[in-house]
Amino acid sequence: MKDAQKKVLFRSEDIASRVCELGRQISADYPEGNILLIGILKGAFVFLADLVRCLDQPCQIDFARISSYGSGTVSSGELKITMDIGIPVAGRDVILVDDIVDTGLTLNQYRDELARRGPRSLKVAAMIDKTARRERHVKLDYCGFRIDDGFLVGYGLDCDECFRNLGSIYVLE
Ligand code: IMP
Ligand code: MG
Repeated sequence: MKDAQKKVLFRSEDIASRVCELGRQISADYPEGNILLIGILKGAFVFLADLVRCLDQPCQIDFARISSYGSGTVSSGELKITMDIGIPVAGRDVILVDDIVDTGLTLNQYRDELARRGPRSLKVAAMIDKTARRERHVKLDYCGFRIDDGFLVGYGLDCDECFRNLGSIYVLE
């Protein structure tokens, strides 16, 4: 798959302006600031890094690593937190940030887990909403781009750990 052809789907310039729009939207929604943004590793690291630099107000950042895939390639539906956040979410305004929502299993379950910890508010942001294989409803409060299907790489998204560093988002063909 690493040798597959790839075609630009979203150019880096268009990503940058969309991410800044989302940043402005978030800044307007939280005038008091002090948001806690939680990125899901590894895919969200590029989106989160760009997003926080488009915010006008102070914020805190943490990361979690979660897996619902076990050892296989098909989602087991079982949430495994392989690295949890270090900052407590109780009483905080939290935004959970991911690269792409596919089946929705991962984000849905970790969102519920965070909700159980008693944040003051909890919203979800994703760069890409990929709708064709959705199994669990995930309310996306902030979404960069929506697509139907396709395997995407670049801007944090990988195929076998490659392509995360590309500035644009590509579809593998
Ligand atoms: P799901 O929503 O639980 O099915 O899993 C979403 C996760 O699978 C994302 O956070 C990505 O890490 C990965 N993923 C899903 N679709 C793609 C894709 O098109 N390219 C790269 N990674 C993907
Ligand atoms: Mg991910």
